[in-house]
Amino acid sequence: MDAQGRRVFDLTARAGRREFLPGHTTGTWGLNGDYLGPTLRAARGEQVAVNVRNELDEMTTMHWHGMHLPAAADGGPHQPVEPGQTWSPSWRIDQSATTLWYHPHPHGATERHVYRGLAGMFIIDDDLEEAIDLPREYGVDDIPVIVQDKTFDENGQFHEGSNGPTGRLGDTILVNGTVAPFLPVTTKRLRLRLLNASTARIYSFGFADDRRFALIGTDGGLLAAPYQTSRIQLSPAERAELVVSVQPGERVVLRSFPPELGVIPIMARYAGGADSFDVLELRAAASLTGTRTMPDKLVDVLRTAEADATTTRSFRLSGRQINGRPMDMNRIDEVVTSDTTELWEVVNEHQQPHSFHVHGVRFQVTSIGGTTPPPQLAGWKDTVYLPPKVPIRLIMRFGDFTDPTRPYMYHCHLMLHEDHGMMGQFIVT
Ligand code: C2O
Ligand code: CU
Ligand code: CU
Repeated sequence: MDAQGRRVFDLTARAGRREFLPGHTTGTWGLNGDYLGPTLRAARGEQVAVNVRNELDEMTTMHWHGMHLPAAADGGPHQPVEPGQTWSPSWRIDQSATTLWYHPHPHGATERHVYRGLAGMFIIDDDLEEAIDLPREYGVDDIPVIVQDKTFDENGQFHEGSNGPTGRLGDTILVNGTVAPFLPVTTKRLRLRLLNASTARIYSFGFADDRRFALIGTDGGLLAAPYQTSRIQLSPAERAELVVSVQPGERVVLRSFPPELGVIPIMARYAGGADSFDVLELRAAASLTGTRTMPDKLVDVLRTAEADATTTRSFRLSGRQINGRPMDMNRIDEVVTSDTTELWEVVNEHQQPHSFHVHGVRFQVTSIGGTTPPPQLAGWKDTVYLPPKVPIRLIMRFGDFTDPTRPYMYHCHLMLHEDHGMMGQFIVT
């Protein structure tokens, strides 16, 4: 805390080197270290301040993905941090407990900056979450799991540049920057905060033995109740919190199974739809502490009805454009009124995987192709996968942060696509 009672974080972006593969040191970028950045954590109601220092030799930005905050603090393409400069946004945490993340957002270069290693988790706490009987000891039974895929070239360096329609799909999985990771487990219940921080790959996470787990939260907060399932699919930038129960002495493998992309088979193959990977091995100790009980209820998730929306907008994604236009930093595409509820109908008109993310707000999915969303999409979200030709309706309430000039973004979060211009800008007035 500083003298003004603010929780202050320092993040310095710089180049580094790390030995991911034995015998090779790979050139990387990192925040305060050689790869990725520290987990930031703050509670609802706290004023936070971050000093983002750029020691790279090119401009970057730092975006707080999923955070409800003023546009000037958002860290999108309009808040550049030039080499040698420090950018210091400050805002009050005003949203429910959840797992967010941060990553650069320089227009046209987001994929490269994230791929090289600039990203980290940002955990929000609140009293409601703390009152629930859930695992919450960070690093013990509450574990960040940042999943990325890489291609290493013959010199052990990151291979950049696309090898498919969605960008670069790698054949080596990193969890929190580690190849072939394992986690010693000492408790009967384990909470995993999964973040897909890959630039292009879509994962369908589950366990190798197909055991069920409790999905407890998605992008924007906890679900109303734990949902017992055996798979959770995450496209880039999506998060999920799950609780899995383990037995003494066992080894349990978190795996990614072939995702359901909803695209034609040939496209699915080029977009990673046939791939599976072991992601993280859990190694349970011979004796485990704690309980296995799970609460039946988590938090109240008030569903907003489509009829509550005062404005409806439609977004069509095709080519590398939204509504027929590529991103233009100098064009405001949509003007939203503060403190209103809007319904956004989004459709992927392509035969390619796309997704949709909105800055500054969280949303609920009210319908997918005219039907009620499944339980894993029934909670708060800020990024959603868009299978081709399936209209998805999102309802969101815009808060009271107004700014007549500085926009927020909405875009496909496959980072190659966003870099290529599949993005638009809105202001809240
Ligand atoms: Cu994860 Cu526009 O951001
Ligand atoms: Cu974002
Ligand atoms: Cu896309």
